[in-house]
Amino acid sequence: MSVSLTGLKVFVRTFGCQMNENDSEHIAGILLGAGAARAEGPEDADIVVVNTCAVRQKSEEKLYSYLGRLSQMKKKRRFLLGVAGCVAQVRRADLVGKRPDIDFVAGPDSYLDLPEIVGRAAESPVIRTEFGRDWKEIGAASTVRQSAWSAFVPVMEGCDNFCAYCIVPFSRGREKFRPLPSVVEEVRAAKSAVEIQLLGQNVNSYRDPGSGTGFAGLLEAVAAVPGVEWLRFITSHPKSFGDDIIRAMAAHPKVCPALHLPLQSGSSRVLERMNRGYTREEYLALVGRLRRSLPELLLMTDIIVGFPGETEEDFEATCGLLREVGFAGIFSFRYSPRPLTAAAAGPDDVPLEVKRRRLIALQALQRSIQAGIYRSFVGRDLRVLGTGPSPKGAGRFSGRTAGNLVVNFDAPADPAGRFVTVRITGSGPYSLHGSALENGDVSVFRGEN
Ligand code: SAH
Ligand code: SF4
Ligand code: F3S
Repeated sequence: MSVSLTGLKVFVRTFGCQMNENDSEHIAGILLGAGAARAEGPEDADIVVVNTCAVRQKSEEKLYSYLGRLSQMKKKRRFLLGVAGCVAQVRRADLVGKRPDIDFVAGPDSYLDLPEIVGRAAESPVIRTEFGRDWKEIGAASTVRQSAWSAFVPVMEGCDNFCAYCIVPFSRGREKFRPLPSVVEEVRAAKSAVEIQLLGQNVNSYRDPGSGTGFAGLLEAVAAVPGVEWLRFITSHPKSFGDDIIRAMAAHPKVCPALHLPLQSGSSRVLERMNRGYTREEYLALVGRLRRSLPELLLMTDIIVGFPGETEEDFEATCGLLREVGFAGIFSFRYSPRPLTAAAAGPDDVPLEVKRRRLIALQALQRSIQAGIYRSFVGRDLRVLGTGPSPKGAGRFSGRTAGNLVVNFDAPADPAGRFVTVRITGSGPYSLHGSALENGDVSVFRGEN
């Protein structure tokens, strides 16, 4: 069924991870491709799509409070309300059952059908949450990018790891890999992007369905595309991070010296019960191999506190590992049980108060470790990709280094989307500050030559 959405305005609101940000770029692109126009906000939209995250209880609660606001709006004005993404996938019919004002529910593998789904939803509620077995090519033509100079490019979808706490294998389905030629084609097509971020739940398990080329080969192929200046990728899994990937990172200066390598816990006992597939010692050995080949590498990680059965000793092991590795940043969370997961079948036995205390202690520790790491950059001249005016101060701008550190700096003009060299004069625990050098290496967009 081909549907024209001409004359209708669409607004997409995103919760969750970068995969979801990129999916929202697809959702907007597909609906605009069917004739819709963009709305500024839900107030002037005929179609509102809420792209949701289910990873923690809090993520889901944010959705329900946003839906509450939209329900109020719907009492005054007619529009179509759709829920997409991970909550859509795992809650499906429950959503429509509980909230009759939801017109459609679209899981992560259904976005190519959105024009049809929207067309049918005008008549009666639609639920579309089937998973296909093969990669569905959406491509650059149906993508409305948020940024001209930095492009997300998905390379895989889903996850086969079934970590005991995690809902993602259920919300995203089994691993599916994107053919290498279409990854390279999308990178070539994103002509204005100087920074490319390859996306997947577990990118280092990548295998090109055609040739069997692994992630190291994919990195090499993308780094070779003319005009790509910075290449990043998320997320990596410590259990399958091969030396071939380390070699590819070291061999290609365009691959940024920044790696998100989720740890979750520094206790081997907890890691085993989380079904992570590595021990504390194996994680540390991997960090050692990475640092020997990539001396400038900055590491980021994810930590869960209060996983069932986590003792004070387990928690101390996590703190000790943070001190030993020196992460440049962490995302830390209190464990919350998620439907369908293995851990949710057992008790959530670490009391909320203990989880809270551990999270605060962990974040305070990390803050002091991080402050030291940021301080070590003072006095250096760093290449920075500008992101626009600084949210903090008038006349100042922000950007990121290759190692993914935030820099706030003075510059004669807005450097958004351009590279400038910044002399670092000071630091805090979350950012560097300094001044752009007058003759910084200002690069041009790829599309301009
Ligand atoms: N694919 C990535 C990220 C998955 S979700 C990976 O393999 O690590 C992002 C983070 O959310 C996870 O790394 C984990 O730290 C956190 N998380 C996932 N499920 C959670 C839960 N039930 N409670 C608390 N944090 C959770
Ligand atoms: Fe979730 Fe584990 Fe898969 Fe990451 S690797 S998405 S934490 S199941
Ligand atoms: Fe959330 Fe789904 Fe991403 S659960 S973290 S939006 S894959």
